[in-house]
Amino acid sequence: MSWKDYLREALLGLEVYRTYEYRPGLVRLDANESPYPLDDADRDTFAHELGRIAVHRYPEVSGRPLREALARRFHVEPDMVLPGNGSDETISILLTAFAEGPHGRGKVLFPVPTFGTYEASAVARGLAPVKVPLREDWQVDEGRCLEALERERPALCFFASPNNPTGNRFDPVALERLARAAPGIFVVDEAYADFSGQTMVSLVGEIEGFCIMRSLSKIGLAALRLGALVGSRDLVAQLDKVRLPYNVNAVSMALACALLENPGRLEDRIRKVAASRRWLAEALAGIPGLKVFPSDANFLLVRTPVEGQRVWQRLLDRGVLVRNLSRPGPLQNCLRITAGTPEENDRCVQALREAIA
Ligand SMILES: Cc1ncc(COP(=O)(O)O)c(C=O)c1O
Repeated sequence: MSWKDYLREALLGLEVYRTYEYRPGLVRLDANESPYPLDDADRDTFAHELGRIAVHRYPEVSGRPLREALARRFHVEPDMVLPGNGSDETISILLTAFAEGPHGRGKVLFPVPTFGTYEASAVARGLAPVKVPLREDWQVDEGRCLEALERERPALCFFASPNNPTGNRFDPVALERLARAAPGIFVVDEAYADFSGQTMVSLVGEIEGFCIMRSLSKIGLAALRLGALVGSRDLVAQLDKVRLPYNVNAVSMALACALLENPGRLEDRIRKVAASRRWLAEALAGIPGLKVFPSDANFLLVRTPVEGQRVWQRLLDRGVLVRNLSRPGPLQNCLRITAGTPEENDRCVQALREAIA
């Protein structure tokens, strides 16, 4: 016997999450981050807050100040908020809490293509994924989802809206009907909601088991690793037992609280990114043969008229890094491009013209 015999077998089939190794000067449009660093005023706030942190003490265990700051942002009560080390962690907390249900091994339903962490984290924790293909227009196939809900009785459902990597928002009426039909927890992952300006948070508390997830990563604070789940008080109270006591560190907590206190500059940057995506969509639509899918997020999904992998490499050769999603199936020849600064967008459009020509 070796320790490997004790390892969850499904892990052997998983890959470690990696991103491209960045080199200086690269235009980084691959990770759906904000292209805008903090401005001087925010930096001053940061420096001031850093100096006040009691680094010899554990952080505030309940995360109360952060819960309050996030609750104000999402217009809910603090005890409806579960802060996470990125929304990645809130996904993992949910999966841990619902790994086994009344029918044995928990199942997790999500549409495909979507954010890969739902599947990878589910498999790593021993839950069974239930994948329902999106329609050709990237909308939810309500009929197939209802059938799958009935057949599989999943403990959890994840619907990212706007969806990554397709960029579109799902029809909220369809999502609401699915949420009402779901037997367990129904999560609408709103990591990109700041760019669509639309949220389904008002259904929290109205539909049993309904919750939303939000992230601060896409709006300029990716390095802090901060996300949140907004759910009913009794769900949050149960999930709090799974959350590690100090899951959000004191630095992230203090800096996020300070920035959220005066969100005007954050909102300015969100507006700039949304405008940048609109500009980029129009410019890319002018490239012959390139299909640009509509987006409500801070990135665009495009389909190239020639082999996607080759176009991706040619972009990289020109110093522009985007996400290569091309593989047989619905994402064949698809690339995902994050909206950048005006200069970065210009370079991307120029490089794409050359790469496709
Ligand atoms: C749909 C979706 N949810 C969640 C996340 C993870 O966000 P965070 O950085 O808060 O962990 C991402 C990141 O790309 C995402 O696309």
